[in-house]
Formats: sequence, structure tokens, C-alpha cells
Amino acid sequence: MAHFNDNDKSSANSRALKVYVETYGCQMNLADSEIVLSIMNKSGYVPTEVLEDADVVLLNTCSIREHAEEKIHQRLHTIRKELNAKPELVVGVLGCMAERLRTKLMEKHKVDVVVGPDDYRRLPQLVEGAFSGVQGIGVRLSRTETYDDVIPFRAEGVSAWLSVMRGCDKFCTFCVVPFTRGRERSRTLSSVVKEVEGLVKRGFREVTLLGQNVNSYLDGTRDFADLLNSVADVDPTLRVRFTTSHPQDLSDKLIDTIAGIPNLCKYIHLPVQSGSDRILKAMNRTYTRSEYLDLVSRIRTKIPDVSLSTDIIVAFPTEAEQDHKETLSLMAEVKYDGAYMFKYSPREGTPAFNLGDDVSDKVKTDRLNEIISLQQRISFDLNQKVIGKTVDVMVDGHSKRSDAQLSGRTSSNKTVVFPAGAFRPGDIVNVRIIRASSATLFGEVVTRVN
Ligand code: SAH
Ligand code: SF4
Ligand code: F3S
Repeated sequence: MAHFNDNDKSSANSRALKVYVETYGCQMNLADSEIVLSIMNKSGYVPTEVLEDADVVLLNTCSIREHAEEKIHQRLHTIRKELNAKPELVVGVLGCMAERLRTKLMEKHKVDVVVGPDDYRRLPQLVEGAFSGVQGIGVRLSRTETYDDVIPFRAEGVSAWLSVMRGCDKFCTFCVVPFTRGRERSRTLSSVVKEVEGLVKRGFREVTLLGQNVNSYLDGTRDFADLLNSVADVDPTLRVRFTTSHPQDLSDKLIDTIAGIPNLCKYIHLPVQSGSDRILKAMNRTYTRSEYLDLVSRIRTKIPDVSLSTDIIVAFPTEAEQDHKETLSLMAEVKYDGAYMFKYSPREGTPAFNLGDDVSDKVKTDRLNEIISLQQRISFDLNQKVIGKTVDVMVDGHSKRSDAQLSGRTSSNKTVVFPAGAFRPGDIVNVRIIRASSATLFGEVVTRVN
């Protein structure tokens, strides 16, 4: 279990109220939960990782697909029972569902506070109100809020998430994010660099810069490539990652920057969503199949050892067998190292919602299974090519299956499992690969690097 650092000033006070946050959805929510804990801690609440100890339970939620929301509805049904109906317990919903459903959440469940992603500074005040029986809601979206000055409340570790921009202006027709997170805005470059310097001092060895669309980061005239440059410069042995890249804004300058700086990880998550031009247009993805393929080939020419992953949605409204085949052929052509694959889920309020949901669930399932098995074959084949090679692995910790094995990742974000030695999380180890599945490389240690 992770341990919080000792920046909570009130832990000596046994009467201090305890706050517990449960996080769902994307990494941006993980980063936001740390901001929420920091804001609550400043107001005297002590973070706890034990649900039963909590006086305030906050669920930081996701709306991206119907299924993500269903999970939260179920959780809200059970949570008070699990805590033996502590009479004074305050339950709050944060994040994208709070922003999307607002008072509807309070009508449906016994929820005391509902606070969206841009209103977390008001959380302590709203929670305080809830203790005196007043329901609280804060769902204003902001054009400027970046929580620039809030130092996230982070557990000790070697790997940190760090939001560098918020919101999204892309308006893909299937997506709720522009509505739940509001307009794009960036943190200042200097505050990001300062936070990274603090993380390095605390022993972190890897940072991942986050945004729904990091490539449109802008602070004055300084763009995302400039930000990466400055962050990489903080410590040349710090691994620097970022996600997510929208293909439209991935500039040649950015590709050159990644290619030229050794501690910028050679891994790009570059969601394509579909291989069919007709569907890409209906999705408002703003690029064509051939523009996307050109981009991939420019990336591979300049960063030969790069690893690429993608997101794909099957069965967007009107998707025909021919469109689906084009997605399969694009996957076969690009040969992604990994893919996150989803069935289309209609979201009320998005433009695509009006197109209906005409592909039957049976066909959705078949298409999803088909792309999953194609991707597994591709990942398996690519991983076989690594056998016999020696790769740099940063240790994450023990492997899921056994304490006798460690697990870590390469710069290209592949998971490597190898026999445990006297290594600690954050160490970089040379590992020779001897076997590979579609998801994991298995190896033996050659030498320790750092
Ligand atoms: N900003 C990122 C994606 C964020 S959401 C990007 O543009 O690439 C993560 C993924 O969820 C998306 O890439 C998409 O594949 C999937 N997704 C979003 N809305 C969806 C929906 N309505 N149904 C199914 N999948 C969806
Ligand atoms: Fe959603 Fe598109 Fe923005 Fe990604 S770029 S968050 S898919 S609207
Ligand atoms: Fe979900 Fe919101 Fe992230 S909808 S994917 S938690 S931005």
C-alpha cells in the first residue's frame, strides 16, 4: 500500500475529520484526486486510505461510456451500507459525472455534495455545509482554472502524474469530455518545471505529463515541445512521458524534440478511432486515414525505436462492414504495439447521439472481438522480435503474479518481468529478453545501469 508523505499538518489531532477519495476514469482524474486531497488537507481534513475510517467519502467519476457511469450508480447504492450507515458521513460525487448530471445525481441518490472538475476550490466550504445538513453543488466550468498553485497531495513513489493542460476543444462528435471538462487551458511552463523539480528532490524517477490533448499546450509562445524540453532538462535521468496526443496537433517540431532528447520516452499514444475516412469525418476527428498514416511514417522515420499505441471505437453510428474492414486494415498496416478498444456508447448531449445507435449489440461484440484478436496477434509478433535483445527497464515493483519476480517498463512502455534481485523501484536495469507473450516480455538481468 502506498504511504502519504507527511505534509498533513493535522494528523496529530485525533478529532480531525478524515477524507477518502475513490478514483475512476482516466489519469487526469488520478491527478485531480491528488489536487482534491491537497485542497481538503489545507482546510484541516486528513487523507485516509481506509474507507471505514472516513468522515467524508468522495467518488471522482468518469462519464466517458455508459458502463463507467453505471459502476458509479451501483457504488452509490452500496456505499452507505458498507459503512454501516454512519449517520454523519458526507458522500460527494466529483469529476465528469458530477459535471454532466449535476442535481440529477442528488435526485437519484443520497449524495451531499456534487462538484465538477473546475470547482474543487469550493469543496471544503461545500463539505462543511453538508455537515450542517445543506446539500452543496459546484459545477461551474472555468476558462482559466488550472490549479497552478496547488501542490498535489502525492503518495511516495517513483512515478508521478502531472496535468499540464485541462479541458478539450476538439469536440469529437461521440465524446463528453468537452462538456464535462470545458475549454482548453494550459498551466504555466514555470509552474510545471517547479513541480517536477520538487518531485525529483523527493525521489521520483518518472513523470507523465497529462492532458486530453497535450499537443495543444501553450504558455505564451511556448508550445508542448518547449515544455518537454524544459521538463527533460530538470534531470537527464528522469523519464518523461506524456499522454494523450491528438494526431492533428502533433507537429514535426515535437517529433524532432522526442527524437533528440534521450530521457523523453520513445512512446506515443496516438488514438486513431477508426480506419474509415467516412467515419473519421462523422466523428469530427479532423484528419483522414492517409494524413494519419503519413504522420505515423514521419514519426517512425525520425524515431525508429518508437512504440505506438491507439484507441479504437467499433460500431460508431452507421459503421458498415466496409468501414470496419478499413479499421482492421489500418491496424494491420500501422502494427500498433498496443490498443485500447471500445464499443461505441451513445452519450446524451453529444452530436453523435442524434445519429442513433444502429449497429446491433451482437455485431458490436463481433467487431470488438475481431479487432482485439488482430491486435493480440500483432503485439505478439512485435514482442517476439525483442527476444535476444537487451533493454533498459525501470523497476516498478513486484510482478502481479509472484514476489520472486519484478516488473518494470522500457522507455517504449513495454512491461518486462524478470527474476527479483536487490533492486528497488526506480532503478534502471539491463534485461535480456528470453521469452514474450502479447502483453509481456520476460527476461534475465544483465547489469544495473543507475
Ligand atoms: N483525448 C483522447 C481520448 C480521451 S477519451 C483522444 O482524443 O484521443 C479515451 C477514449 O475513449 C477515446 O480515445 C475513445 O476511443 C473512447 N471514447 C470516448 N467516447 C466514447 C464513446 N462515446 N463510446 C466509446 N468510446 C469512447
Ligand atoms: Fe474527446 Fe476528442 Fe477531446 Fe479526445 S480529442 S477528449 S476524444 S473530444
Ligand atoms: Fe472519464 Fe472525464 Fe477522464 S469522462 S476519461 S474521467 S476526462
